[in-house]
Amino acid sequence: MSNDAHKITILGIESSCDDTAAAIIQDGKLLANIVAGQDIHQQYGGIVPELASRAHQQNIVPLVDSALKKANITREQLSAIAFTRGPGLIGSLLVGTSFAKGFAMALKIPMIEVHHMQAHVLAHFITDHSHKPHPGFPFLCLTVSGGHTQIVLVKDHFEMKVIGETIDDAAGEAFDKSAKIMGLPYPGGPLIDQLAAKGDHCRFKFPHPQIPELNFSFSGLKTSFLYFINEQVKRDNDFIEKNKADLCASIQKTIIDILIAKLKLAAKQNNISRIAIAGGVSANKGLRKALEEEAQKNNWSLYIPAFEYCTDNAAMIAITGYYKYLIKDFCDQSTTAAARYAM
Ligand code: KG4
Ligand code: ZN
Repeated sequence: MSNDAHKITILGIESSCDDTAAAIIQDGKLLANIVAGQDIHQQYGGIVPELASRAHQQNIVPLVDSALKKANITREQLSAIAFTRGPGLIGSLLVGTSFAKGFAMALKIPMIEVHHMQAHVLAHFITDHSHKPHPGFPFLCLTVSGGHTQIVLVKDHFEMKVIGETIDDAAGEAFDKSAKIMGLPYPGGPLIDQLAAKGDHCRFKFPHPQIPELNFSFSGLKTSFLYFINEQVKRDNDFIEKNKADLCASIQKTIIDILIAKLKLAAKQNNISRIAIAGGVSANKGLRKALEEEAQKNNWSLYIPAFEYCTDNAAMIAITGYYKYLIKDFCDQSTTAAARYAM
């Protein structure tokens, strides 16, 4: 028996939205992490679900193959396959789920279903060459993505409670919709981030929603941004072009302030000073900087994942799979993809 027989080797796959991803984790350490994005959606100003699932189908087999090669792992060495069961786009989830079922059956290995939002939080436990410290328990995680905005109280790898969330749009949607109003392509979040770096965030003021407790709302902000832009464009056709950087900096600052105000409240209410962020929006440089400043002021221990583990990736699926493997939390061939899936 080779040494590898004792190693726990997990293939993780992610296909909940518009990124197809595969990763390999062995004994908790990341060996490969590959993502294939889908540029096709750019021309439509948002994700077209049918096109997303078609692209996943094209990408998934070569991607898994590349991940195995990069990790220098054969299929026979795999201990289990972990896949995103939900939440997400049903057609996209079905591709990953069906692939996992076929692969697990062919190789006679267990399957592990993963909750996408739980995986975003557990991205903090990915061990790679950087040797970044992992957060201790309990900690608070602000998970901000294109579909979700949550403050999660994390007591253990699998004991998580959502203590605040958006009642309408997600923070990522606020970025993407504001970008669309300015005529920027999808996804607008990273572009706003880039342009904001050159702009004045004090130039334009937008109202903050008054939402009780730890919940968020972003749909009013989008509407006031739209009305503001429409009014200005009536007076000056080139208003957006002339003020793009300041508009980006100002809308980004408003979103960041809304997020941080609730995070501070959550930290205070729960008396927790270990603070983490996760999800695509946590790649935002303005948010990362603002959080670093807050951490200094409030004596927080701050955990910010590397960029590649913020946006959708399979390393977070594989690490969640690894922890589930340790407690033998497997699923079987009757498991179905779940577009809506409570955490
Ligand atoms: O977690 P994620 O990759 O996919 C979902 O599960 O939704 O998040 C995607 C979201 C998009 O709304 C995208 O615009 C946003 O994250 N995003 C950013 C940045 N990078 C990605 N938003 C602001 N600044 C960024 N640098
Ligand atoms: Zn995500």
